[in-house]
Amino acid sequence: MVGKSSPIIKGSYRFSIAPMLDCTDKYFRILMRQVTRRALLYTEMIVANALHHSKKRNQLLDFYEIEKPISLQIGGDDPKLLSEATKLAEEWGYDEINLNLGCPSPRVQSGNFGACLMADPYKVAKCIEAMKKASDLPITVKHRIGIDNLDSDELLIKFVDSLASAGAERFIVHARRAWLKGLNPKENRTIPELQYNRVSKLKKERPQLKIELNGGLTMPNDCLKALETFDGVMVGRAAYSHPLRWTKIDEFIYGESPQKINASKIIRGLIPYAENHIKNNGRLWDLCRHIIQLVEEVPGARAWRRDLCLKAQRKNAKTIVLEEAARQLEDAGL
Ligand SMILES: Cc1cc2nc3c(=O)[nH]c(=O)nc-3n(C[C@H](O)[C@H](O)[C@H](O)COP(=O)(O)O)c2cc1C
Repeated sequence: MVGKSSPIIKGSYRFSIAPMLDCTDKYFRILMRQVTRRALLYTEMIVANALHHSKKRNQLLDFYEIEKPISLQIGGDDPKLLSEATKLAEEWGYDEINLNLGCPSPRVQSGNFGACLMADPYKVAKCIEAMKKASDLPITVKHRIGIDNLDSDELLIKFVDSLASAGAERFIVHARRAWLKGLNPKENRTIPELQYNRVSKLKKERPQLKIELNGGLTMPNDCLKALETFDGVMVGRAAYSHPLRWTKIDEFIYGESPQKINASKIIRGLIPYAENHIKNNGRLWDLCRHIIQLVEEVPGARAWRRDLCLKAQRKNAKTIVLEEAARQLEDAGL
């Protein structure tokens, strides 16, 4: 059973920016929104249990309208809490909700969610069913090709079939196995070999399902090539570390007319958000820690970054710092 997509989500998932803890907060997301108007953006993972108990619920869920289309990523294994999170996601105006079935961190394992749930498709199906009942939002999942020794084409297909029958609409597959013991999360993103062929096989066996590829995509051309096989591509680290690399995505992937996007224009686009954040007692650094990624591989980049770090980390730093940073780039033709 595959439900209908919300109109805004339709097609936006062809290119998405991966959920990344401590990286894809709303400030990085509005930065990426200056780079691409069309890509689907994901939040960092929010734990359903934390959402239930948190006094900072509004802070956890808050996002700017401009971030849409946006998917809320949730972690959990309790159908009741996940159903509550799904209702909240709908109330807050998220475009979809995504269940994390790929995180191998010890903390996440001790909560019995993330990648370890790949060992229990029955339980995950119950979670998806509960989420499906809770709202009209599309329910999607992000998972690995396998965990530990549960790592065969048959098991992967069985897992995906069971979630599709429960109502999952799209499958974002990080093309690596996760080792739950012995590797830390960072190692689990580099040491297990990337196996795109396993995800291709899944797509070939289940052509009617929407299957997206994640893991190791570093250039727009890799993504275009992958889109010949898959329904979507998700990029994580290469988007965070090199945001300007992706300025032609709307043109290449969504057929939009070309736009001239550069670092100074992006920074100027962020100034109103920085002003708002400071007005609400936030720190300029919360945005600038992402903005420093914008300038690389050009003469003077290191000095520009160092200068911005120094000024933006000051306690009462104001948006004039951003204006100066943008002006320096404009003077250098960037
Ligand atoms: C710093 C960091 C934090 C991450 N946090 C999450 C997370 O919250 N949820 C999730 O599903 N994956 C998380 N991931 C994994 C990414 O979403 C992605 O699957 C992985 O980095 C592989 O894609 P890439 O090679 O394009 O980076 C994280 C990755 C990084 C580097």
